[in-house]
Amino acid sequence: MSDSGALPSYVRSPGVAFLSSLSVDRPLARCDLAGSVAHVQMLQHVGLVSAEEARTLVRGLQVIGREIADGTFPWHIELEDVHTNIESRLTEMVGPVGGKLHTGRSRNDQIALDERLFLRTAVADVAHRLLAFQGALIDRSRPESATPMPGYTHLQRAQPVSVGHWLLAHYWKFDRDLDRLVATTERANVSPLGAGALAGSTLPIDPAFVADRLGFARPFENSMDAVSDRDYFAEFVFDLSLLAVHLSALAEEIVLFASKEFGFLERTDALGSGSSLMPQKRNPDVAELVRGKAGRVIGDLTALLTTLKGLPLTYDRDLQEDKGPVLDAAATVGASLDAMTTLLPRLVFGKARLAEASSDLELYATDLAEGLVSQGVPFRTAHETVGAIYSAQGGPTESAVRSALGPAGSVAPLTLAPQSALERRTTAGGPAPASVANQIRSAETRRNARLLSLSSLDRQVGLIEELLNEEPK
Ligand code: ARG
Repeated sequence: MSDSGALPSYVRSPGVAFLSSLSVDRPLARCDLAGSVAHVQMLQHVGLVSAEEARTLVRGLQVIGREIADGTFPWHIELEDVHTNIESRLTEMVGPVGGKLHTGRSRNDQIALDERLFLRTAVADVAHRLLAFQGALIDRSRPESATPMPGYTHLQRAQPVSVGHWLLAHYWKFDRDLDRLVATTERANVSPLGAGALAGSTLPIDPAFVADRLGFARPFENSMDAVSDRDYFAEFVFDLSLLAVHLSALAEEIVLFASKEFGFLERTDALGSGSSLMPQKRNPDVAELVRGKAGRVIGDLTALLTTLKGLPLTYDRDLQEDKGPVLDAAATVGASLDAMTTLLPRLVFGKARLAEASSDLELYATDLAEGLVSQGVPFRTAHETVGAIYSAQGGPTESAVRSALGPAGSVAPLTLAPQSALERRTTAGGPAPASVANQIRSAETRRNARLLSLSSLDRQVGLIEELLNEEPK
């Protein structure tokens, strides 16, 4: 850090190292610059700066954009935050006219604007990673739509499903996660600029002009709400937390299935690394770490909500603590998604163990009861009859099943074959291979629709670089 010249009076403090937010707001620099360009255009529009002054200011901001991109921007911790660093540099470059940049604006509405712009880029980034991961889930489901595996409740073998159906069960959770992320950006698409410190301005500023330039649906309704609202970040970190919880639940099953006890997944190198002591070890570290990272993301949510809880209106410096959890949660979930996208195609299913486990008669008790029901036996009676066979000493055997079921026993061998048991489960949304094929089609349709809705978010994200590159009028 080189000498920053005379410090503006409002950042002179012996505690500046503690007060500085540079470590967490530097990632917002491009959003800050784009917001300032739109602000200058508004000041010109309402006659608070001349066309000549606006050109000088916008050009200066654009040069700063290039300095930041190529790493030559002189950051000064004693200038406290990204806003003051940029404004000071601008004045250093263009002279006293730089002092007009902050007309009708406060760092309070400025940071709220930067954060809403940053949210778009952060959501777009996570959403694209999520889409890639969803693609990997679908690709992995397709060839396994008829591969039987035991389905569990209470982690006890329950009924037969397929590997494809199991993977797709996870898919739909991530589909809702993507929905939530996009909806969060839609709700956040309101511009706070013009709220000033908390009470607007006596100058003839035009918040709707700025909102329009930056692709917001509308400007704020209440200046006090505008500078204190952090719902958009709280929602985003919640969306990320639930996404992390969903990743963790899938990861947990991968860990379980890769154990020798289950053996549904081969213990391949892709799962993780080995032990420095035990030569035989192949540990499912990737899945374990994805599971572990969910705790950290939930911690980010707790930190953010705790910061917001009980703050008096309007801006309080506590709010500066909002950025750390957001950056951490977004980076953590992004990395977890990438790790799982890499892992999925490399999972090797233990087909022999799956086949053996899927032949367990335990899985077909309901099928037998339903076989009786289709011969007119009341379900409750069928439940008792089959229950007695299964609780008999030594458990159910095929011949016990056959004789106890009488005429219905003749269907037993067919009923008990995993493949045909799957095929007969034709409920829409169920595990029959034909139903799973339909499910894959609708998963793909949903994913394509999401790709489309993301392209409008991507366009909004693109506005930032457009403002930083367009020739000033
Ligand atoms: N660094 C501050 C933050 O991140 C910017 C707003 C500062 N406003 C103020 N009145 N000190 O929240």
